[in-house]
Amino acid sequence: MTTNVGRIWVRNLRLCTGLTLFFYVTTHLLNHSLGNISIPAMEAGLVVQKWLWQGIVGTVILYSALSTHYLLGLWAFYERRHFGWTATEVVQLILGLSIPFLLMNHLFVTRISLALYGTEKGYNQELYSFWVAGRFFGVVQAVLLVVAWIHGCIGLFHWLRLKPMFSRAMPWLAAVAVLVPVLALLGFFQGGRTMLTLAHDPAWRAANLNPGQVGVPAHNAQLTAWRNDSLLGALGALGFVLLARAVRALREWRGAAVRVTYPDGRSVRVPMGFSVLEASRSARVPHACICGGRGRCSTCRVRIVVGATCIPPPSTGEQAVLRRIAAAPMVRLACQARPSGDVSVVPLLPANWPVTALRRREWPMPGQERFIVVLTVDMRDSTRLAETRLPFDAVFIVDRFVTSVGAALTASGGRISHFLGDGLMATFGLEAEPREACFQALSALVAIGRNIEALNGVLHAQTGDRIRYGVGVHCGSAVVGDIGEGAMRTFTTLGDAANAAARLESLCKEFHCEAVISNDVWRTAGFSMVRLPEREASLRGRQATLLVHPIERVEHLAVFVSDGPVQEIQRTPGA
Ligand code: FES
Repeated sequence: MTTNVGRIWVRNLRLCTGLTLFFYVTTHLLNHSLGNISIPAMEAGLVVQKWLWQGIVGTVILYSALSTHYLLGLWAFYERRHFGWTATEVVQLILGLSIPFLLMNHLFVTRISLALYGTEKGYNQELYSFWVAGRFFGVVQAVLLVVAWIHGCIGLFHWLRLKPMFSRAMPWLAAVAVLVPVLALLGFFQGGRTMLTLAHDPAWRAANLNPGQVGVPAHNAQLTAWRNDSLLGALGALGFVLLARAVRALREWRGAAVRVTYPDGRSVRVPMGFSVLEASRSARVPHACICGGRGRCSTCRVRIVVGATCIPPPSTGEQAVLRRIAAAPMVRLACQARPSGDVSVVPLLPANWPVTALRRREWPMPGQERFIVVLTVDMRDSTRLAETRLPFDAVFIVDRFVTSVGAALTASGGRISHFLGDGLMATFGLEAEPREACFQALSALVAIGRNIEALNGVLHAQTGDRIRYGVGVHCGSAVVGDIGEGAMRTFTTLGDAANAAARLESLCKEFHCEAVISNDVWRTAGFSMVRLPEREASLRGRQATLLVHPIERVEHLAVFVSDGPVQEIQRTPGA
C-alpha cells in the first residue's frame, strides 16, 4: 500500500511533469499557429523549438517528463477506486490514456527517426505527410493536439482552481485556453492548404522530399514495425492496469474489512486500505471533496469520534494542511485517513461546500464554547453627524471610521463578528490562548487609537471634525461559530462576554474616557501587578459588580503592548 507521503510525492511529481509537458505542447501549438503567416514562418519557429527541446538538456527533460507522466498516469488509474469520479476526471483520464496511441506515429517518424537515422524533418515534410502522403495521420495529429491541450487544461484547472487568484485570472486563462488551439489548428490548416499547391511543384519536391528529409523505405518500414510494437505495448500496459484493478478489487472484497460509521447512524463496511473518503463515496454518503481526494483542499475533513488510534499519524503534507486550517486534535483529512479498524467520523463541512469559499480561505466554524475576548467599538455623535452633514459626507466619515477600526482589529488578530451601523464587535482568542488573546485585544485598542488619530488629522483639516469613540473590552466563556446558510452565513459570538463588552463600551460616556476594560482582561493579559484607575460597574443581569478600568486615552496603553505578549509585569501607565 502506498503511504501518504508517497502519495503526495507522486502527486507533486505528476504535477511537475504535467507542467513540463503542457509547456512543450504550448510551444508546439504556438509554432503551428505561425502557419497562419506562412510555412517559412513555421520553419523559423521550429528553430526555436529545436533549440528548446532538441538539445541534450531539453531532450532529457522532455522525455523524462513524458515517460514519468505516462507511468504515473497509469499508476493513478490503478490507485483510484471506481467510485466518485467526476465528469471532468473521467474526460481527463480517457484523454490522457489515449495520448500514447495518438502520439506514437508522430514520435517514431520524427524524433526516433532523427535519433537513429538522422532524418531531418521540418514543417515542409510533416505537412506533406499529413496533407498529401497520408491524410489519416493528419487527422490523428489534429486530434492529438486538441486531446493533449484539453487534458492539460483540465489538469491545470484542478490545480489552479483552489488558488485565491483563480477567480480574477479565470477570464484570461479561458481566453488563452481557447485561442491557442484554435490559432494552432488554423495554422495547421493554412499550412496544409499551401502544401496541397506546393506538392505539385517539381522544384519544391526535389528540394524537400529527398531521402535525408523523409527517410529511406527500409528505415521507414522498420520505424513502422517498431511503432506497431509500441502501440501493442501501450495496449498491454493498459490491459495490465485493468487486470491489476480487477485482482485488487477481488482481494479487497475477500480480505479484512473495516467499518466507518457516520453521525446519522449510517455505517459502511469497506476493505481495509480504503480511505474514509473512499468509504463515503462507495456508499454514496455525501462528503465534501473539492480537490478530488488529493489532500489539498481540506474540505473532506472529519472529526474522528471513535477509533482514532486505528488511523496512522498524518503525513507531513496532511499535517501542513491541518495546520493551515488550525484543525483540532481529532480532525483528519478523510481522503488521507486509512483506518485499520472500525472508526466513527463526523464530516465537518457541508457536502456542497462551494469552491469559491475555499479560494477565499473561508472555513465555516462549527459552534463551540471557549474562552474569548470581546471588544466593541462605537463611534460617538454619529446622530449629530447625520443631522448636520449631507448624507454622502456622513456616510463617508462613518465608512472611514469603520474601515480604520476594522483594520486595527484584524491586524491585531481579532475576528469581526458584528457591524452595528457605526460600531463593530470583534472576537479575540479563536486561535490563541487566553493570555495572548487579551494581549491582542489591548494591542487592538492601541491600534484603534492610532488609526483614528491619523484619520482625525485628515478629517480635521478638511471638515473641522474630529471623531470620538468608546470601546469596551471583556473576556470570558462564550459560544462562537457560524450561523445561517449560504450568503447569510455569518460568524457570531453569543454569551455574557459579548453583552458585558457592549455595556462597558456604553460606560465610556459616563466615565468620560475612550475605553473601559474589565479587570479580567487586564489581569489575564499579564498586567495584574499594574495599577490602573478602578471602578465598579453594574451590568444588567448580573448581581455582582464588575471591576473595570476606565482608560482616558487608549494611547496610554501603548507602553504595555509595544514589546509583545508578556509573562507578568509591574509597571504603571506612563512609567
Ligand atoms: S478531498 Fe481535498 S483534502 Fe481531502
